[in-house]
Amino acid sequence: MNEKTLPNTDPVTADAGTRIDGTPTEEQPRREGTSRPLPEDALIIVPVRNVVLFPGMVFPLTVGRERSRAAAQEAARLQRPLGILLQSKPEVEEPGPDDLHWVGTTASVLRYITAPDGSHHAICKGVKRFRVLQFLEGYPFTVARVQIIEDPETVDADIEGRAHSLKERAIEILQLLPQVPEEMVAALQGVEGSARLADFIAGLMDISPEEKQALLETFDLKARLDKLLELLSHRIEVLKVSREVDARTRQSIDDSNRKHLLREQMRTIQKELGEGDESATEIAELEKAITEARMPEEVEKHARKELKRLERMPEAAGEYSMIRTYLEWLIELPWAPDPEAPIDIAEARRILDADHYGLEKVKRRILEFLAVRKLNPSGKSPILCFVGPPGVGKTSLGQSIARATGRKFVRVSLGGVHDEAEMRGHRRTYIGSLPGNIIQNLRKAGTRNCVMMLDEVDKLGMGGFHGDPASALLEVLDPEQNSTFRDNYLAVPFDLSGVMFICTANVLDTIPGPLRDRMEVIQLPGYTAQEKLQIARRYLVPRQLAATGLTAEQCEISDSALLAIIDDYTREAGVRNLEREIGNVFRNVAVRIAEGSAQQVKIGPDDLPAILGPRKFEAEVAMRSGVPGVATGLAWTPVGGDILFVEAARMPGTGKLILTGQLGEVMKESAQAALSLVKARSRELGVPPEALEKSDIHIHVPAGATPKDGPSAGVAIFVALASLLTGRPVRSDVAMTGEISLRGLVLPIGGVKEKVLAALRAGISTVMLPARNRRDLEEIPADARDKLKIVWIEQVDEAVATALSPASPDVVPV
Ligand SMILES: Nc1ncnc2c1ncn2[C@@H]1O[C@H](COP(=O)(O)OP(=O)(O)OP(=O)(O)O)[C@@H](O)[C@H]1O
Ligand SMILES: [Mg+2]
Repeated sequence: MNEKTLPNTDPVTADAGTRIDGTPTEEQPRREGTSRPLPEDALIIVPVRNVVLFPGMVFPLTVGRERSRAAAQEAARLQRPLGILLQSKPEVEEPGPDDLHWVGTTASVLRYITAPDGSHHAICKGVKRFRVLQFLEGYPFTVARVQIIEDPETVDADIEGRAHSLKERAIEILQLLPQVPEEMVAALQGVEGSARLADFIAGLMDISPEEKQALLETFDLKARLDKLLELLSHRIEVLKVSREVDARTRQSIDDSNRKHLLREQMRTIQKELGEGDESATEIAELEKAITEARMPEEVEKHARKELKRLERMPEAAGEYSMIRTYLEWLIELPWAPDPEAPIDIAEARRILDADHYGLEKVKRRILEFLAVRKLNPSGKSPILCFVGPPGVGKTSLGQSIARATGRKFVRVSLGGVHDEAEMRGHRRTYIGSLPGNIIQNLRKAGTRNCVMMLDEVDKLGMGGFHGDPASALLEVLDPEQNSTFRDNYLAVPFDLSGVMFICTANVLDTIPGPLRDRMEVIQLPGYTAQEKLQIARRYLVPRQLAATGLTAEQCEISDSALLAIIDDYTREAGVRNLEREIGNVFRNVAVRIAEGSAQQVKIGPDDLPAILGPRKFEAEVAMRSGVPGVATGLAWTPVGGDILFVEAARMPGTGKLILTGQLGEVMKESAQAALSLVKARSRELGVPPEALEKSDIHIHVPAGATPKDGPSAGVAIFVALASLLTGRPVRSDVAMTGEISLRGLVLPIGGVKEKVLAALRAGISTVMLPARNRRDLEEIPADARDKLKIVWIEQVDEAVATALSPASPDVVPV
């Protein structure tokens, strides 16, 4: 640093072109007004922004502003002290009288320094207080006439007493503060005079410039001392409190360290003594459980390795509980194969019969399956898959099989499973990860030899973002792979080959192909009203009676009432709603009996509307059909069969065909084919061909919001068109199904049983089926066969002959 003591420097003249430190300047602007003399009682003022200089205090002032620099230089030249004033508005660049406090300190500049970076600093020592009387204009810096304020010469006991305690408190503070140099205390001790002491301490205080200014402006020494005493006392309190807090935190840290050390030592001692603390006993228990879990060798080795890690880990570590949970999973899984109970086929037959009415074919298939398994236990048996509409007994058959084979039953719902991890688990690195649902259910079953029902395989989410759940299922079901099934969480293979898997689905076509190949599909198409009546009598009624707490004597329900529920209140292939409605009836009766308003109730069909409300399904067929242009078709749906109406209308036009009712491509084409066929046979039908050319034909299939597709409505569309054009209505008790060819042949279709049952439910008496579906005759339940007239048709002309009523004389054919 380039420095010089001011008194030794050459005086700087305004136009000398030298710096205050003597070095020549390149270009020193000529200053005006320096020639103007300074009055005796005037001071050259340097405004400062955030420092209050007290008399006796030495302070390095940074002289940044050009005006201040000029002021300092001029003061040095004239060998006059500077007047330091605190700005009342620190933000003002060139402060005027209003921007300054009017009380300040005179200062002698001890040194003036130009730092290598070009900044100027004046080391100032405060001398005396002054008060501004008047600011003077016309100088290139601030000048003011001032009055010097002297401190009192004489001191009284009051002041001395106060000064004494001020000093004591200041020393106390210095001792409370960390890192105060010894010299500070010595300097304080050495300060002479009460006024000096007060200013010295005020200068050191850690308070705002404004507060310091207030002290500076307190000319009365006694008052100043009082103010300082108050400030110091407050400061002491604050310091004491913060010290206490400090000490307390330090102590608590020490304490926890100590406890940790002690605990560690205790552990070591306990180990030495062979006694365990909590975690040691826990580890011993885990160890014992691992031994008893009868894991395969590889898995056991892995488990012990994890246990070792656990042992070395402090109990509080987050990973500790993760490893412990993992070990618990390993321990609780059924690793050991339980000896398989020999299958008693006769007993199995008895149980299946006891649980389910009818279903002869299904039961026979199940018994065959069990027999093969009995004779060849190690053979790779296929996976059974029950396919059928809701409520036909798929799940309950699975439970029956479990009962018949003496196995535990667990159910895994696959509906809506989109993420492979749901089946296979998440890796352990994920927080809160768990095994997938296969392993979870095995733990629930507690044995590998269980029946695991995989419900709703047809609703399994397709492969996507999170892996393909179907491929995980494939691995589960594949006898080649499932003896080493890997769950991501377990990370060790688990043998699933002992599990008897049974799948269920509502439809076959959405089951992924490779999965379907592994399955032995057993169809449960649904029940006839008579079958439902039997199921209701034998199973549902007793079960619902028990559920409502009624006895058979208290509540009797007649067959005709049950049939009325079946026909008018439910329309389903299964029996779930039937059971629900029976339950509703019984609850109603239970209320009456509990109230005491009845002892014994007999329910007949006429009682139903009062309990269940108006009939939900009317004889729709009679209502809708009976007009020319409407035919009753039969459809197969995932929830069993259903009837559908084909409506045709004709309007003047140019021979266009309009199709509505959300028909799929195949159905649209068969409508086209039916129209062509009608045109080709117009003569046989007695329809003049010109009539067709001058009209548009509209075919609609309600319900318009449900998408429909498939070729099997061909016959119905043809019949509807024929009826429209001949004006002969279709008999309302006839329903039909069958695909048509352009040559007029009727081709076979699928879902015969479901469709026939739907027709029966809808109150149809004659069903027309393709002759080539005769082979499905035995599929049709006997009571349906008895009740329905089945007409086998080979040609569309036969359909017209059977379905259309004779032309009535009042209908004029087109
Ligand atoms: N043939 C039957 N004999 C006796 N009870 C039956 C028969 N069929 C179904 N049930 C009874 O009907 C109810 C519904 O059957 P279940 O739950 O097995 O239907 P599901 O086919 O699994 O239907 P979903 O596809 O909706 O799962 C059960 O209480 C079941 O016992
Ligand atoms: Mg089910």
